[in-house]
Amino acid sequence: MIKANAFLSRISPYKPGRPIEEVARELKLRGEIIKLASNENPLGPSPLALRAIRRFLKDMSLYPDDNCYYLKKKMAGLLGVTPENLLFANGSVEILPMATHAYLGPGDSAVTGAGAFLWFKIAVCHTPAELIEVPRKDFRFDLRAMAAAIRKNTRLVYIDNPNNPTGTIVTRDEVEEFFRHVPEDVLVIFDEAYIEYIDDPAFPDWSDLFRRRKNILILRTFSKIYGMAGLRLGFGVADPEIIDSLAKLRISFNVNRFSQVAGTAALDDAAHVRKGKAVNDAGKAYLAEAYRRLGLFALPTHANFFFVDFGRDSRPVFEALQGKGIITRTIKEYGFPNALRISIGTEEQNRRLIRALGSRL
Ligand SMILES: Cc1ncc(COP(=O)(O)O)c(C=O)c1O
Repeated sequence: MIKANAFLSRISPYKPGRPIEEVARELKLRGEIIKLASNENPLGPSPLALRAIRRFLKDMSLYPDDNCYYLKKKMAGLLGVTPENLLFANGSVEILPMATHAYLGPGDSAVTGAGAFLWFKIAVCHTPAELIEVPRKDFRFDLRAMAAAIRKNTRLVYIDNPNNPTGTIVTRDEVEEFFRHVPEDVLVIFDEAYIEYIDDPAFPDWSDLFRRRKNILILRTFSKIYGMAGLRLGFGVADPEIIDSLAKLRISFNVNRFSQVAGTAALDDAAHVRKGKAVNDAGKAYLAEAYRRLGLFALPTHANFFFVDFGRDSRPVFEALQGKGIITRTIKEYGFPNALRISIGTEEQNRRLIRALGSRL
């Protein structure tokens, strides 16, 4: 027998939201299936991104620009940083194992909140380091307790803000107070996958933090409001020294040619982002009220999904919805066996979801 490395036994593979094709095949469903399982943009990508890909399709035979020159230049200009502050990846999630491999070794530890986006936990399991998961307070990350959990051997802290799967945030004041207790040799990762959906003025201003501190890595993605989850494109923003360390673990050509041209074009389409935000805001208001009317507990959300608690094992609800062609996401592995994470869709999709929840499931 060929023996795999022992550390693999620590890893429970990430289970993404189920693809439409798979559910259709398995349940032999006809009619439209809607996917509210992976927090994608129900409007799809910007037409400018589509046009850019069509234009460059013929270049499929050529390797992409390994340095993402144009994409980096444009993003750097938009964020007010230099291209050396940026690392692009095959989805932002690709940067998490780069960070754990770069900074965690034997005898080290990493701190996060219980029920943080699971990929960080998996990436820590790629290394011999210990993961310290700090209990939440009222569904939110408890930054005070997380600061107190930092030990001498802690090298990384991970905070997804807003958090997936609760949609809660940590505030600027909490983050300021937190940093008073974080040593400068601990890298704090803020995963801001849902930043474009934020309205709350208490949300931390990353650029202000970034100007004052070197031990910060911000993660962003084109998978959410930019509607490009299928292409895979995300990036990190950090001090050039951190970016250089992470980039040593990057596999050549990790960002394909189409992601680069579509991402660059999408950045020109502010109207598409505004539209995505408006559809999400309207859906958020409608669903918050509809969940309330149905007597379901839904956490107020800062993102494009709701955490909905059914007060009982949510698996049968998930299956009943799936039988009606609506794919949602169980979140038992995050410690919430009674809840589902349900993305905000188009007006029509949201109405169909509420009709289904209102019928006997
Ligand atoms: C907090 C968080 N970070 C990262 C991701 C994945 O982003 P990407 O598609 O860029 O890998 C997700 C996706 O659901 C997420 O919820």
